[in-house]
Amino acid sequence: MTSKIIKIGQISDLHIGESEEFVQGIDVRANFLFALNSSSMQNLDLLVLSGDLANEDAEPGAYQFIADTIKDYPVPVCIIPGNHDRIDVMQKYYNLEVTDGKCYYSFDIQGRRIFFIDSACGEVSREQLDWLEREVPKADGEVLLFMHHPPCFCNHRFMDLRYHLKNMVEVQQVLSKFKNLNHIFCGHYHHEFEVKMGNQYVHAAPSTQMQIDPNTPYFSMKSSAPGWMTIDWGEDFVQADVHF
Ligand SMILES: [Fe+2]
Repeated sequence: MTSKIIKIGQISDLHIGESEEFVQGIDVRANFLFALNSSSMQNLDLLVLSGDLANEDAEPGAYQFIADTIKDYPVPVCIIPGNHDRIDVMQKYYNLEVTDGKCYYSFDIQGRRIFFIDSACGEVSREQLDWLEREVPKADGEVLLFMHHPPCFCNHRFMDLRYHLKNMVEVQQVLSKFKNLNHIFCGHYHHEFEVKMGNQYVHAAPSTQMQIDPNTPYFSMKSSAPGWMTIDWGEDFVQADVHF
């Protein structure tokens, strides 16, 4: 019997603006479309947009543009918010699962389960951690988790210093309990990373807006080339690949 590989495309930190005007001199809409239409993103089983869809503060024009773009997308699209998004605005454009103002849910695909949590406010609420503690062990076999903020430091001097997940230790204590969670997928850091956190791997996707230099403690743009990630999830392996 051949085992099916689930192919996931992850696009993160789009930072689309209200209008077609460039954002910090970058054609962020073209960057997003470049990633979406690239050969590596064809024949997906699932597309994930992992937060910071909007540039600064939940610009409606950004959500409208993305909604129009993915309207006829041939496979499911799972969305979580980032720190530049607002759920109350996003809900007008996307069909999101929201509980007490937070967008967290699980998604079943081909008999396997993927968890999505909301760290838009800079931390993961206790309610979501309790929900994970109840639901992750119940899942049959290995699961994946998507969240906007990495749950650990990533050796990015600027982002680790200024924009790390606030309740990182609390989140790590919960995640480390899950024997069927080995791979956690994030964005937010505008740079690709693969970090070992105990027995688990944290994968940070690059941004389609721009990459931030990880070697300086102050903001410094490294590149305006869009980056994204593809994930091949087999029965007994997870392969994450970064593309530019
Ligand atoms: Fe972010």
